[in-house]
Parts: sequence; structure tokens; C-alpha cells
Amino acid sequence: MSKIHIPPYDPRPEIEVLWDEIHAAIDRVLRSGRFILGPEVEAFEAEVAAYLGVKFAIGVNSGTDALVIALRALGVGPGDEVITTPFTFFATAEAISLVGATPVFVDIDPLTFNIDPHQIPAAITPRTKAILPVHLYGHAADMDPILEVAQAHGLKVLEDVAQAFGGAYKGRKLGSLGHAAAFSFFPTKNLGGFGDGGLIATNDPAVAEQARMLRAHGARKKYYNETLGYNSRLDALQAAVLRVKLKRVDEWNARRREIAARYHEALAEVKGLILPSEQSYAYHVYHQYTVRVLHGRRDEVRQRLADAGIGTMVYYPVPVHRLPVYAWPEGSLPRAEQAAREVLSLPMGPMQRESCIWEIASWVSLE
Ligand SMILES: Cc1ncc(COP(=O)(O)O)c(C=O)c1O
Repeated sequence: MSKIHIPPYDPRPEIEVLWDEIHAAIDRVLRSGRFILGPEVEAFEAEVAAYLGVKFAIGVNSGTDALVIALRALGVGPGDEVITTPFTFFATAEAISLVGATPVFVDIDPLTFNIDPHQIPAAITPRTKAILPVHLYGHAADMDPILEVAQAHGLKVLEDVAQAFGGAYKGRKLGSLGHAAAFSFFPTKNLGGFGDGGLIATNDPAVAEQARMLRAHGARKKYYNETLGYNSRLDALQAAVLRVKLKRVDEWNARRREIAARYHEALAEVKGLILPSEQSYAYHVYHQYTVRVLHGRRDEVRQRLADAGIGTMVYYPVPVHRLPVYAWPEGSLPRAEQAAREVLSLPMGPMQRESCIWEIASWVSLE
């Protein structure tokens, strides 16, 4: 019998379904001769803005650039502090440091893995300029208390929506709640391109204008550069592909939710696991289906799955505050540190076959 092979995520079945539409979109761009920004990117920006219910969307080179540019457009710079979560991809904190500010990490809510809003007030100092919540794994951070504390202290809120395109908080699309939001179109994301890509969303015309300027070498008008910016423009080919996929994103997020429901059923009886949950305020889009494996057995379970041909991921084995760049002491943010020891993301994607889920579940047992 040939061994099964289930990768953590495979983008190819989605492309297969959209083959003709994607080829037509690529063909259109090749014939247009416009490969950077231009009408294809403008159309994509307008479609994303309408989808999110925001006034402005600005396509950039990556999610990381979206964070850097959005922070600068919000006026965050040297000497400022930005409150964020330690349990995220490095880029969230890296962007804060790259604009010359200092990330101040606040521990997480163990249920959602997102920043615990109740711990934010104690982290505010006279230098705090912004709060940067991340909607990790596709589940919303608890935004109302974050927005309230931000308003009370005159702070900006930048949402990191890299992992949660299409997710919602109390019926409102993630990325439409703060002063600005950063998205990533890295190929594995819920809305993924064929390379790097990102986007900034905002309702503030001044932030939008700054972001547009910064993505194009700090120039509002070509060759009349006003400030130091970046070469961070979205490619027309990416925009064309993303426009095709945007039309399917709701259907495929719904499919991810069905896959998650099958995992819940298949894993319900397994002892020593904590399954992901959805808070009443969230519409979870399951970028990842991430369980906690208790009793220090995560790596053993992961190895067993690997031996059976099932790929899993650990997002993230080291919380950002413990990475050498920041090196906060061990034990300083115990919930994030515990999560880093316990989390395991199982194969997830809108095309995941249901039969595979029962197969995967059969290898997860801790008996
Ligand atoms: C939470 C989070 N923030 C930021 C990023 C950075 O996005 P990109 O890889 O497009 O630069 C990612 C993804 O890679 C992410 O998962």
C-alpha cells in the first residue's frame, strides 16, 4: 500500500478549479503591457475596499511592507512604543522595529491566542503611540475593548489581518475596525497570490495618501520625491490573479469552516487535546486549525503524524518576545510561552478532503 501524503496546505487544487479564469486574467495583463500598479491593481484595490467596507485600499509588495508603511502612515516612528502580541509571525514586531519604534508585548488570551485586551492598560506609557492586534489563525482579536482603551488614550489601532481575510468581528469585516489594517497575500493565506503581495486598508484619506506616497519612493508625483519611501508596489499579475480568487474567498472560507467542523467531530473524544473554539464575537475563517496538545506531548504527536505522511506546522515554536532580537526573559509572558510549547496546526485548506480528516484524527490519539 502506498503511503499517504497530506501536506499542511496545498494551493494547487484551488488553482485547478480556477484554471481557465486565471489564464484569462494573466493573458489580459500580458496583452496590456502594464505590469506594475495600473488599472488591474486599481480594480483590485476598489474590489477589496468594497468587500471590506472601507474607503481606501492600497496594494503593496507584501504583508510586511503593508505593516511598515501603515505604521509610518499612522505617524509611528523613532521613540514611540507600539503594544502588540508576542504570539505572531515575526514580521508584526519586526515592522514596528523597522520604523524605529519599540514593540511592547502583552500576553495572550489562552482561548483565542490573540492579545489579551485586559492586559493592555498596564502596558501603556507616555510613549505609547499605537496598538497592533493580530487576528491569529483567522480568529478575530477582541476589538471592542482594544478600541475603547485606544480611544481613551488617543492611540492608533493597526490591525494585522494577514491570517484572516474574510473574517469578522461582531458582523464587521476584519480590517475595517481600526485606523488602518495590513493584509498579506502570501500564497498560503486565505486570499493568496502567486508570490508576495500585501495591502493596506483604511477609512482615513490622509493615511491613504501617505501610504500611496510611501509605496512609491515617497513621491505623490513621479520624480518629485518628498520623503524616503519604498519600492513596494503591487504587481498587475498578482492583482489579476487575486481578483479571480477574491470572488471565491467567501465560499472557500465557508468550506474551511466545514472542514473545521469535521475536525471537531473527529477529535472530540481525544483526551489531552484542546480544540480551537470560536468566540461569540468572531466569524472564524480557520486560516489554521490549531489544537493544543497537552502534557508535553506535542512534538511526539507531530512526529507520529509525520511518520504517517501527514504534514503539520507549529505556528510558532518561539514567541516573538523570546527571539534573540527582543530577548525578553523566560517566563515574562507565560501564556504565550505555553502556547508555543503546545500548538499544532493540522492540514487545512478549502479543498481538504473529508476522508483525510478521519485519517488524520486517527493518528492524533494520545492513548
Ligand atoms: C500575522 C502575520 N503578519 C505579517 C505577515 C507578513 O506577511 P508577508 O509574508 O506577506 O510579508 C504574516 C505572514 O507571513 C503573518 O502571518
